[in-house]
Amino acid sequence: MKLPQTVNILLLGSGGREHAFAWKIAQSPRLEKLFIAPGNAGTRSCGVNADLDPSNFPAIKQFVLNNYINLVVVGPEQPLVDGVKDYFLNDSEIRHIPVIGPSQEAARLEGSKEYAKAFMSRHGVPTAAYFTVTKDNVEEGCAFLASDKVQAPYVLKADGLAAGKGVLIIDDLAEAQAELRAMLEGKFGAASKKVVIEEFLSGIEVSVFVATDGKSYKILPEAKDYKRIGEGDTGPNTGGMGAVSPVPFATPEFMEKVRTRIVEPTIRGIREEELDYTGFIFIGLMNCGGEPKVIEYNVRMGDPETEVVLPRITSDIIDLFEGIAHGTLEEKTVTVTPRTAATVVCVSGGYPGAYEKGFPIEGLPASAAPAAGESGEVAAGEGDTIVFHAGTALKGGETVTAGGRVLAVTSLGDSIPAATAASYKTIEGITYEGKYCRRDIGRDLL
Ligand code: AMP
Ligand code: GLY
Repeated sequence: MKLPQTVNILLLGSGGREHAFAWKIAQSPRLEKLFIAPGNAGTRSCGVNADLDPSNFPAIKQFVLNNYINLVVVGPEQPLVDGVKDYFLNDSEIRHIPVIGPSQEAARLEGSKEYAKAFMSRHGVPTAAYFTVTKDNVEEGCAFLASDKVQAPYVLKADGLAAGKGVLIIDDLAEAQAELRAMLEGKFGAASKKVVIEEFLSGIEVSVFVATDGKSYKILPEAKDYKRIGEGDTGPNTGGMGAVSPVPFATPEFMEKVRTRIVEPTIRGIREEELDYTGFIFIGLMNCGGEPKVIEYNVRMGDPETEVVLPRITSDIIDLFEGIAHGTLEEKTVTVTPRTAATVVCVSGGYPGAYEKGFPIEGLPASAAPAAGESGEVAAGEGDTIVFHAGTALKGGETVTAGGRVLAVTSLGDSIPAATAASYKTIEGITYEGKYCRRDIGRDLL
């Protein structure tokens, strides 16, 4: 099966990841029309923003029918965890329209830490040792923390989705036991009614991205994410303050271990368990002295990693979607530039704590500013720099801040310093009240 030669696409989401997808999709000669729901001020230069809530499935269905959509691409995890794929499959009017993303069951690989750990253990995927605790075995959980099966620092994870905040790493045993109780009492709401205690893995993290049609797979460029707000990886966790691809320590030898020990057993597991998985798998890995171990699966692309992964892919993305959607991924080729991509995220003052929105953004490169009307043109910045919008909106014809992460400024260069320098130069020319970015993206990799 194939998609029509040219297609209408509906892309769900509104962040930097979705702007990067929209930018890449807009470059395809196979695109007829792109809609982004709800999108942001930047996605308007790649397609048409649709005022739709990605979790309102009946509204999505109506939109898909009204606009002759041929393919739905899901950016964030929430609609997948909520079953958007199943919603399509269970409705005869839209069943034939492929959704890029896993079923609700398969999305539990991200939606439940315990499900993911049990999957890894069934399929021999290397990961940290773990123990699952609920209210019923809290004393056992406390005893496990005190046993010689784990050492400090103690890793406690809320089982469910907690917007990236559900992981605690604690040095002191008594504190860890108290936090375990607090989590089970609802510290992270329903997400922490179950808690996974994990062995602490020490090493350096790398994000590996895999496209799959459920049978075969393609490994996409890897990336390193910068999660903490402060330079030198200090301060609270954020959604991600920057990313670099390729990652120098992800050598061909290391990536071959990732392929044979992690990607292959994961895909085999998906196949054997007959999970409906047509989409992207984001594998968060720890490089433990050259040995890869899985920290987590995500059932979508990363943000801001997508803003460095997609600019390195030189082949057509609609062809890739076709392979994913129709079980023909094996026949597809993904080509990648060896150049380095770096993205630097500009955030709102106060983020990841409370912050204000609505500040006008000045100095955006002309082509990345919102197009006057409907337009199929590709948003690109100057030269090798692309300003992806993350949390922006249009207010009275002006682009304003509308989220914690505001922009992701990506550059391609011949080295990490060349790519980051180009992004920092562009960022200097962009102003809004409270603008902050980390100045050390990529520095640890030199
Ligand atoms: P997660 O939500 O699972 O991605 O965890 C958030 C962050 O906590 C990860 O990106 C790691 O930096 C850290 N982390 C999670 N699990 C472990 C572990 N077992 N050992 C060390 N660090 C971890
Ligand atoms: N950058 C990490 C994530 O997308 O979850």
